[in-house]
Amino acid sequence: MSAPSPLTALSQTIHHCQLCPLSRLRTHAVPGEGVTDAEIVFIGEAPGYHEDRQGRPFVGQSGKLLDKLLAQINLTRAQVYITNIIKCRPPNNRDPLPAEITACTPFLHQQISLLSPLLIVTLGRYSMGHFFPPTATITHVHGQPLMLDDVVVLPMFHPAAALRNPQWMQAMQADFDKIPDILVPLRQQRQAQNQPGPDDMHQLSLF
Ligand code: URA
Repeated sequence: MSAPSPLTALSQTIHHCQLCPLSRLRTHAVPGEGVTDAEIVFIGEAPGYHEDRQGRPFVGQSGKLLDKLLAQINLTRAQVYITNIIKCRPPNNRDPLPAEITACTPFLHQQISLLSPLLIVTLGRYSMGHFFPPTATITHVHGQPLMLDDVVVLPMFHPAAALRNPQWMQAMQADFDKIPDILVPLRQQRQAQNQPGPDDMHQLSLF
């Protein structure tokens, strides 16, 4: 049998993680799921009741909305990667604690580094807060791409918030519609980076 891919090996590590007390309360850890060559990584907050039961991200009402929003831009979850800031369900879906985020985010960093996506879409304030300065509020920055060194981060409302508030639902739909246009130059840039430059050609011709 061949060795698991690095991403699969990481998911297995997350399944057995005991770095914080949430590990003792979970049914399943929820590492995330999707394709290894995903251009887009979606990052939510934390697994809820259904996610904890099934070990899969965004399978409840929020997930149904996420699927609908993906379909709006002709994507399915089979073409992206979906994960959360923390990988185990907090009791009664309370907000993640700073210590839980600190314990868990090295997993997120490894996932991002293995996936190397063009675009990260943050869903809700916890994942936004991971990339944006503490002064940023989601009502002000949603839909505005932030260019980081090797990835662009697009903050959005959390689907659960959009389900509660029609105005945020509209904003979320409009923010999703921006994704295809944001991806075009990022794909071109990645393609140019992956093309051999004159120095590489010289090196190649030596062999
Ligand atoms: N909400 C989240 O933030 N993540 C999930 O996986 C499900 C609901």
